[in-house]
Amino acid sequence: MEVQTDKITILNHPLINHNLSIIRDKDSDCEKFKNALKRITYALIFEATKNLPVVKKEVTTPLQKTICDCFNEQAQLIIAPILRAGMIFCEVAQELLPFANVHHIGMYRDEQTLEPVWYYDKRKQIKPNKKDVFVLILDPMLATGNSAIDAVKNFISKGVLEENITFVSLISSPLGLEKLSKKYPKVRIVTCAKDERLNEKGYILPGLGDAGDRIYNTVE
Ligand code: URA
Repeated sequence: MEVQTDKITILNHPLINHNLSIIRDKDSDCEKFKNALKRITYALIFEATKNLPVVKKEVTTPLQKTICDCFNEQAQLIIAPILRAGMIFCEVAQELLPFANVHHIGMYRDEQTLEPVWYYDKRKQIKPNKKDVFVLILDPMLATGNSAIDAVKNFISKGVLEENITFVSLISSPLGLEKLSKKYPKVRIVTCAKDERLNEKGYILPGLGDAGDRIYNTVE
């Protein structure tokens, strides 16, 4: 189902690839685009959470007792969508992880420098038992890698362990993957495609265009 290096997982599955073709198609309208993206989000979140800690719990079925693996409630899980496009992953992520906290990251890309500009960050310091804090940073496009690196840096500065951070994207550029994994080699990256390259404006080729514009129907 996937191409796996140590820390980078590129999902490869007919259902994912089919939905990705809908997402990439410039003629898919906002509704089609969002529905296809939502379907893929389930696979991304399942993969991104596959190493979460579990504890054994006794459960009684209608027939007998059994031992089940359950999410360790001592652990804190943080879903961190990078605004605005990252919000597209949020509904499904919350559905699958109802016990998680959502921390919005407000960042936009300066069109000249391609550097991230922060405008919203209300995160508090992380709990002292930081071994039990896990963060999923959500952004459909891992392009230059600059926003991803800044978001990871911010969580680490608040006390999260690098190895407990997973970056979830739909499409990644070779440069973004390389920069993020060189700067933070312990961060896991889960994505569905490694595209060809970036253009001079920092857009991924072939990509899907501007993710935020396509999600929020603001394509001009
Ligand atoms: N952000 C987008 O929305 N699209 C890209 O191709 C790159 C960054």
